[in-house]
Amino acid sequence: MPSEGVDAARDGSDLHHSLRTVWWEEDAQLAAVCMLDQSLLPQQVVVLHLTHEQQVADAITTLQVRGAPAIGVTAAFGMLLALHRFLHERASDDEPPSASASQTHLISVGHLLRSTRPTAVNLAWAVERMLRCADKTLAEQANPLSLWHELRREALAIAAEDVDASLKMGQYGAELIPAGATLLTHCNAGSLATSAGLGTALAPIYVAHQAGKAIHVFVDETRPVLQGARLTAWELQQAGVPLTLITDSMAGHFMRQGKIAAVFVGADRIAANGDVANKIGTYGLAVLAHAHSLPFYVVAPCSTIDLSLASGDFIPIEQRNSAEVTTIRGVQIAPSGIQVANPAFDVTPHSLITAIITEQGIVYAPYDVSLGHLCGRL
Ligand code: MRU
Repeated sequence: MPSEGVDAARDGSDLHHSLRTVWWEEDAQLAAVCMLDQSLLPQQVVVLHLTHEQQVADAITTLQVRGAPAIGVTAAFGMLLALHRFLHERASDDEPPSASASQTHLISVGHLLRSTRPTAVNLAWAVERMLRCADKTLAEQANPLSLWHELRREALAIAAEDVDASLKMGQYGAELIPAGATLLTHCNAGSLATSAGLGTALAPIYVAHQAGKAIHVFVDETRPVLQGARLTAWELQQAGVPLTLITDSMAGHFMRQGKIAAVFVGADRIAANGDVANKIGTYGLAVLAHAHSLPFYVVAPCSTIDLSLASGDFIPIEQRNSAEVTTIRGVQIAPSGIQVANPAFDVTPHSLITAIITEQGIVYAPYDVSLGHLCGRL
């Protein structure tokens, strides 16, 4: 795989506005889903060029790309890549592929991509959106070329909307940040968790920083996979936002000392009643914030809201490999042969959430009403 310096991941002068995480590349012969390999950050900045949908699925499973909006965009590009391969590999056949064969292929790739990670609804949402686009196109013009053009347009639109949403979430959320505030965040919900742009929970932080509000961010390291230490600390440092890295168990200590003004986290899925699934450890932070009367803000695009689930009890929680807990970056830290639990996400009840910041505006409790109105408007 080609490796490039950090500058290759930027497409503008202002890094935190332009750090690219996932993007589409194509020429006359080849198409590729490209991404920064997040499993190697921050020690190595490597760009992957994936040319097969199985590679895309593997990249999602192994966290080379992660973060709810980013895996949604990756899935959309993965579907496009699968169609590109399907049409190109059969281009020289006596009989070119039919529209319905292309559609059947897309449905099976949709299953493949959806099976990679169950919790973040953005992934399933993007696959469904691509399949709906295919259905609609084929109902109007049953030819593979129109299918290709329409799916390409749809995937690029999903990526562009992701960038646009992060800016809007940033602008809404920044209004909740007082000048001079010290904030706390968990996991990585920044540029790296979206396809490009500002991210989700970090978006208001970037906007407030740019506005000169002199903010400071406490970053939870986020065991077991260390998205906070490896990714959030890296991207905040790159953007010049002052930060302090802490281990997850230090959050309560700093809240009690009065050092934290508010908590900002992202979300992988938001149920109809406002319950939020996010990185394991988020629930504990929400309880701590409540105990210290601190605002607890969730920042997520509308594609993360799943009104089909009445509450967080129905959100599927991904269980990951025990090696993520028994080792740190390949070094074993626990005895062999012990029982290990590794849920990747937890659910924070809506009663602990001060507000949910979306690209359509900020919503407050009662969430079953406010989220319904928000999604009804779309
Ligand atoms: O396992 P990950 O790294 O994909 O988990 C990511 C998170 O939990 C993020 O907080 C969430 O996706 C919101 S990011 C915009």
